[in-house]
Amino acid sequence: MTQTFKTEIYRDPQGHTEMRFNFLTSILERTAVLSSFVFCLSSFNAPHARGDASTQPQPLPERVQTIFATHCAECHGETVAHPRGNFGYITNLARVAADTELITPGKPEQSQLWQMIKSGEMPARGAKAGPLSADEKESIRKWIESGATVSSSEPTGK
Ligand code: HEC
Repeated sequence: MTQTFKTEIYRDPQGHTEMRFNFLTSILERTAVLSSFVFCLSSFNAPHARGDASTQPQPLPERVQTIFATHCAECHGETVAHPRGNFGYITNLARVAADTELITPGKPEQSQLWQMIKSGEMPARGAKAGPLSADEKESIRKWIESGATVSSSEPTGK
């Protein structure tokens, strides 16, 4: 009898507490759902922000390396058995940059490589990838003008 009464007494506040607790939990859950939603949004946003960065032009050394690989490697690549003009390392940017016969860092006009590109002599006629665009030429010129630096991920050997 006493037992039942006690249970009755305690059940009420407990039930009450539980209800409040449930209410709180649901608020917390909603908050959690909401915040994970916001988090999702922001992580959708993050690559978007990075996407903006990736639409910025490639660093010059990388860009020039890509141009050389596309337009010159056919005849001057390191894997070409008999490179044209006895020049077979255009894909090795560090070696090209260090070759004082071809490049005078900071001075495109005094660099044979730029002279040949500027005049349209290179890429030679018959190049599969065709001639360079004005933009590609300008990238090469700027690369030499800015010191013909090689990306930090590249070996700096000569
Ligand atoms: C279709 C083949 C071909 C392509 C593509 C080509 N070249 Fe050449 N290149 C030659 C030939 C052939 C020679 C040697 C004859 C000459 O000097 O005109 C030569 C010579 C050179 C030389 C002179 C080498 C030396 O030490 O005398 C340079 C520098 C050069 N090319 C740079 C380039 C660059 C940079 C590109 C890309 C933008 C390129 N070439 C694309 C065929 C090619």
